[in-house]
Amino acid sequence: MILVTGATGNVGREVMTQLPDARPLDRRSGADLAKPETLAGSLDGVDTVFLVWPFLTADGADATLDAIAQHARRIVYLSSSAVHFGPDTDPITRLHADLETAVQESGLEWTILRADTFASNALGWAGQLRAGDVVRGPESAPTAVIDPADIAATAVRVLLEPRPGTTLTVTGPEVLSRADQVAILGAALERELTFEATPFDQARAQLLADGRPAALVEALIGSAERRPRSDLVTSTVQELTGSPARSFREWADGNVDAYK
Ligand SMILES: NC(=O)c1ccc[n+]([C@@H]2O[C@H](COP(=O)([O-])OP(=O)(O)OC[C@H]3O[C@@H](n4cnc5c(N)ncnc54)[C@H](OP(=O)(O)O)[C@@H]3O)[C@@H](O)[C@H]2O)c1
Repeated sequence: MILVTGATGNVGREVMTQLPDARPLDRRSGADLAKPETLAGSLDGVDTVFLVWPFLTADGADATLDAIAQHARRIVYLSSSAVHFGPDTDPITRLHADLETAVQESGLEWTILRADTFASNALGWAGQLRAGDVVRGPESAPTAVIDPADIAATAVRVLLEPRPGTTLTVTGPEVLSRADQVAILGAALERELTFEATPFDQARAQLLADGRPAALVEALIGSAERRPRSDLVTSTVQELTGSPARSFREWADGNVDAYK
């Protein structure tokens, strides 16, 4: 039995679609990754866990991993490709570096899947694009954005065919800036769209005014401000799934309804 955490999220939802016999961690039944004592029922009979860590720090991760290790033998952890450039650029990269260490020291047979920036982050522009043709937000360095369905497809291969002690990095096929992504999205929507970079202080103030928690705002602005450009493009999706990583245009074509 495979337990899928984050099963309603961008990646976990796709993992569940591709592995319908897996068990989703059901938050409605009280299961909470921050409260290890709530996990025994979900872990009963489980051999392998797909772990999405939805918090901003690694606090509590050791206790959760201990609870998992009392039942399961193997773990596949969804990390970030930003760890590749060193853990100290921003809080989210730090979080994933700390989780990778905790997973490696958990006693479980582990595989780490480092994912590049999700194409689905562009869904955050939907509100602005329903109101106009300009996306405003903090600039962030170009990376090879990846379709969450490809992350999930790779995760499924690793869940079914273990690669113990391996760290895999999954990226999309091409390095794109924010402006590139907005232009490609415009082509999919048959509209001329542009990106306007907002100064970081202004973006921070706007996010706080929108009611986002301060720690989340600092994490988002920190990664936008400090992560370096990444020219890393891997062939991991092709090698593990047999299909090339989907382009951002393919992701956009599949998601046009979200912008209407
Ligand atoms: N976005 C990116 O560009 C990017 C890149 C690399 C790595 N990552 C990492 O990917 C992970 C997020 O993956 P995602 O986007 O697929 O997820 P997501 O869409 O953000 O969804 C979060 C998931 O976690 C669940 N969750 C939230 N709080 C929980 C709790 N206390 N106990 C158990 N489950 C809880 C949510 O369940 P409910 O629906 O019940 O709330 C939901 O299924 C994060 O670790 C992020 O840092 C993201």
